[in-house]
Amino acid sequence: MFGQRSPPVGAAHVRSVPMTANGTSGPEAGVDGLDLGAPPSTIDRPWETDPQGYWATIDAATHALDAPIFAADLDALRYNVADMRRRAAGTPIRVASKSIRSRPVLDALLRVPGYAGVLAYDVAEAHWLAADGPSFDGADRPGCPDVLVAYPSADLGAIAALGADEAAASRVTLMIDDAAQLDLIDAAVPPSRRPDLRVCIDIDASFRAPGIGVIGARRSPVRSREEASVLAATVVGRKGFRLVGVMTYDAQIAGVGDLSIRRPGAGALLRTMQRASWDELVARRLEILTDLRRIADLEFVNGGGTGSLERNAEDPNITDIAAGSGLYGPHLFDGYSHFQPAPAAGFGLAVVRRPAEDIVTCHGGGWIASGAMGDDRLPEPVWPAGLALTGREGAGEVQTPLRGDRAGRISLGDRVWFRHTKAGEPAEHVTHLTIVSDGSVLDRLPTYRGEGRCFL
Ligand SMILES: Cc1ncc(COP(=O)(O)O)c(C=O)c1O
Repeated sequence: MFGQRSPPVGAAHVRSVPMTANGTSGPEAGVDGLDLGAPPSTIDRPWETDPQGYWATIDAATHALDAPIFAADLDALRYNVADMRRRAAGTPIRVASKSIRSRPVLDALLRVPGYAGVLAYDVAEAHWLAADGPSFDGADRPGCPDVLVAYPSADLGAIAALGADEAAASRVTLMIDDAAQLDLIDAAVPPSRRPDLRVCIDIDASFRAPGIGVIGARRSPVRSREEASVLAATVVGRKGFRLVGVMTYDAQIAGVGDLSIRRPGAGALLRTMQRASWDELVARRLEILTDLRRIADLEFVNGGGTGSLERNAEDPNITDIAAGSGLYGPHLFDGYSHFQPAPAAGFGLAVVRRPAEDIVTCHGGGWIASGAMGDDRLPEPVWPAGLALTGREGAGEVQTPLRGDRAGRISLGDRVWFRHTKAGEPAEHVTHLTIVSDGSVLDRLPTYRGEGRCFL
């Protein structure tokens, strides 16, 4: 049993929905699943040329389904899949599962040329995907053959379960940045009672700006070539481990849009910092890799995220680039000047009250994004136009009031559509992602939650 902290959802908790709104399997979903590799069927981009019509179509298509609905437009998904592939320029994209959280969607992505491997966020999740997840590229048996866990784990139960499953362990790589994490793994399952476990070293990719300090994610303590070599030598010197990869996540580049800070001159300043940070990272990474390749046979060097696909594609040392959130195109990416994904996914909530002529209240809505708190973490109401969250209540756990001149035209039972700040987190609120194509529901794909899995 994988993901033991998440017992299967009882039938009573599962929204009873057919696989499609009309109860049949959609033609394009078919037995082979969703085809995300086909070119978008529309020449224009309705989300740009007629954004209100775009959301209205999604709303009309999902009318028969109960809210909350997490839905995505197939053409917009295909546009994003193709655009990420273009930006990666031939370097394989390792799919960041935290930004997807649906096995059928991961499966669909991994069947598109240019996408290979999963960047998972949890050991129990990685084990599940390796044993029973999406396969790709002519894999000889079910399950994903290449799952890199992006973060260290202290989940001894999950590590022990992985260590007891030789086939899955050969497909999963664990992340470390400290010898103490090797001790934890040994405590979960001693080297004598497990196959060698594959490990990857996370190298700190943050930027150290004079007078400002650390810009980027506070994750790995391994920064210098000396620190990296000492840890690599420790790994290869210990029984039960195999050093196979290196990862650097440039959060201050991939995760921050240059248009997102609205102070005058801030965008230019940010771009300057990102350039300096990138140059520093490329040079330091090269030194580290030169040393580490003398210590171990590295199979892969992972870097980046959706926001830094093209930069990482230019570095010949990078063998795969992690990206996921660009598929759904959450509103975080409205703040980036160098690319613009389609707003492929949104969530629809039911209007249940009218506290005043210019206010309607939705059921639910507090789908607030993780990260440093600020207005940019709030969901954005996108349809019908002209509605805004109220300053006093924001997006509430069970009730979300929205104010706007046109609120009077909205009836109770109507839907309001929102975009989330991030990509994968909405999937924690729903059992299915509804795929809309050409004005009707094509398929309803279970999220991790819909499959009774809850990892973080
Ligand atoms: C290690 C790592 N790589 C890559 C990413 C980028 O993921 P995405 O492109 O889905 O935003 C993240 C996001 O937090 C991450 O933690």
